[in-house]
Amino acid sequence: METTIRKVLVPHFGDESVLQVTQANIASPQAGEVQVQILHSVVAGADVNMRRGTYPFQKKAPLTPGYSMIGKVLDNGAGCTKFAPGTLVACLTKYGAQAERMNLPEKFLVPVPQGLDLRQATALILDWVTAYEMLEHSAKVTRGQRIFVHGLSGAVGTALLQLAQLRGAVVFGTASASKHAELSASGAVVFDYKQKEWIREMQRMGGVDSVFDPLGYQSFDESYSILRKGGLLVGYGQNLPALTNTPRTAPVPMVLKLLARNLAFWSGKRTTFFGLSRDSKHFAPDLALLFNWLAEKRIRVPIKAVFALADVQEAHRMYARGSGVGSIVLDVSSH
Ligand SMILES: NC(=O)c1ccc[n+]([C@@H]2O[C@H](COP(=O)([O-])OP(=O)(O)OC[C@H]3O[C@@H](n4cnc5c(N)ncnc54)[C@H](OP(=O)(O)O)[C@@H]3O)[C@@H](O)[C@H]2O)c1
Repeated sequence: METTIRKVLVPHFGDESVLQVTQANIASPQAGEVQVQILHSVVAGADVNMRRGTYPFQKKAPLTPGYSMIGKVLDNGAGCTKFAPGTLVACLTKYGAQAERMNLPEKFLVPVPQGLDLRQATALILDWVTAYEMLEHSAKVTRGQRIFVHGLSGAVGTALLQLAQLRGAVVFGTASASKHAELSASGAVVFDYKQKEWIREMQRMGGVDSVFDPLGYQSFDESYSILRKGGLLVGYGQNLPALTNTPRTAPVPMVLKLLARNLAFWSGKRTTFFGLSRDSKHFAPDLALLFNWLAEKRIRVPIKAVFALADVQEAHRMYARGSGVGSIVLDVSSH
């Protein structure tokens, strides 16, 4: 049986004005799939880059963005028995979650505990699990270590700040000047990314134990220069051209150059590139842990703004303005 739904469409790559909300039909879930009524999705850097056509190895247009979602189980396809209809579930979808319904493989669904603020819970799926896994599995940050975070005011950056502080680390990083007071009040030592004073300052201190860098290109060189012996640079993006409106060069040589630095073993410095994956054995337990921390109020998840599906163009414009701190959420169920 087919149902008519509304969904966001990127018919061709371009600025915010290309985004449409269209009607489409969705079939019943196939074997191994669950049909979910989507309640919330996010507008993340990945969604914005997919609209521009600049996300690495992305699908061609037309496409429906939506990297993550929380929704209610509506219908189980053959062989699916884990979730009763009405159960709240989360998924790292990569595409398609800016829509009223999706058919998703049951094996990628993670149960959502009752009683959570669902907007904050939705922000955990992509940005917070990324931050948690880089701290826990990549850098293994411990009490008393010094870490440096590019973009402390961003969605991943704020998550890195809080989660690193919970581990007892001292957090340094960058943001634009208008956000320094708020971030300093949270205990971070903040520098303006428009100046490079942070490089001298971190080197003067003897370097940091780990750096988290979503910018790529020359920023990887700068981040490497502030590592102490034994320190780790975790690259996790190539956002610099998008943020500075400059042409984007091929991402693969940049990542290869980052990893090739490990050949200089005598430096004592290490590098890695992190990519979040729902196939990882860590993903579901890490998300479940963060849901529990949200329920226990151990973490505070800032939400910049919430938009209805019909206002998706405005949500992307807000992303481009870069105002505020935290994640932008789409309330898919509101009309
Ligand atoms: N590898 C993975 O698995 C993974 C997962 C999630 C996200 N990511 C990537 O992580 C990146 C960040 O995502 P996000 O959602 O946290 O982004 P976001 O919320 O838009 O944050 C962007 C940050 O960049 C800062 N910024 C703006 N212009 C800058 C410049 N010229 N130089 C340095 N910093 C600048 C902003 O500071 P102000 O706002 O203070 O100006 C802000 O802190 C994206 O590239 C995304 O694709 C990767």
